[in-house]
Amino acid sequence: MERLRDKVALITGAASGIGAAMVRAFVAEGAHVIVSDIHPPTGEALAAELGPLASFLKLDVSDESQWIAAMDAIAARFGRLDVLVNNAGITGTESGKVSHDPEHTRLEDWQRVMRINLDGVFLGCKHAIATMRRTGTAGSIINMSSRSGLVGIPHAAAYAASKAAIRNHSKTVALYCAEQKLGIRCNSLYPASIRTPMWDAMLHGDEDEEAMLKAMPLHRFGRPDEVAAVAILLASDEATYITGSEFNIDGGILAGTATSPK
Ligand SMILES: NC(=O)c1ccc[n+]([C@@H]2O[C@H](COP(=O)([O-])OP(=O)(O)OC[C@H]3O[C@@H](n4cnc5c(N)ncnc54)[C@H](O)[C@@H]3O)[C@@H](O)[C@H]2O)c1
Repeated sequence: MERLRDKVALITGAASGIGAAMVRAFVAEGAHVIVSDIHPPTGEALAAELGPLASFLKLDVSDESQWIAAMDAIAARFGRLDVLVNNAGITGTESGKVSHDPEHTRLEDWQRVMRINLDGVFLGCKHAIATMRRTGTAGSIINMSSRSGLVGIPHAAAYAASKAAIRNHSKTVALYCAEQKLGIRCNSLYPASIRTPMWDAMLHGDEDEEAMLKAMPLHRFGRPDEVAAVAILLASDEATYITGSEFNIDGGILAGTATSPK
């Protein structure tokens, strides 16, 4: 069964981790997938491996001119865009050297995270709505927030604030599109602890990892394909009554607290 047969989907930050898993899952469900990222070699290799349903497009989500060019290229090639997954995101702590607590974060480091995570989602929504409106497409926009958008994160202040803002913007987009009678849906995802390269800089040895696993209800990290499975549902025509909604994909982490009475 191809749940996304013939749909045209653009996925950002798609060369790695959750984005790459979504590309594989969307192609397996019959979608034409535009694999976009700032890293051409990895993105191109992924697209080449998956054959004619996948193609690579270089897109830095923080640059509006690149969004305009991307939408023009997609409209020219396919005549429409059915699905946008605003997946690209950074913690800002990748180098392991930059402080991201609320007391010591430099303004430029805060702004870099906001540019990619929040401006990127704003621009993606803006240009996808315009393209979908122009081509009369009842599309689906899926924005990647995070558990960090729902709770405070002491050493990733900009990341957490950007993800919280994505949560609210997704609802605004959903309501705006409904008001405009565009048929476009917008929903957001809240993964937690999905084992991808994003975690490489955040885990400092086996002890760190063991302590994390112990505190998790399911005692394991999530897999990128477990996030992709929810995106497939939201991208498909099975979800036509779902808009402005949010989905935790966290193995139960947000269901309670680490300390609870027996
Ligand atoms: N892994 C988790 O536990 C987790 C949890 C919650 C939310 N998320 C979110 O999921 C998304 C994907 O994360 P991941 O874990 O797969 O991380 P990842 O680091 O494996 O992948 C992120 C991708 O985004 C790309 N990217 C970075 N800057 C970009 C830019 N300016 N324009 C376009 N692409 C850019 C990178 O090249 C990379 O391919 C992110 O938004 C992240 O915040 C991840």
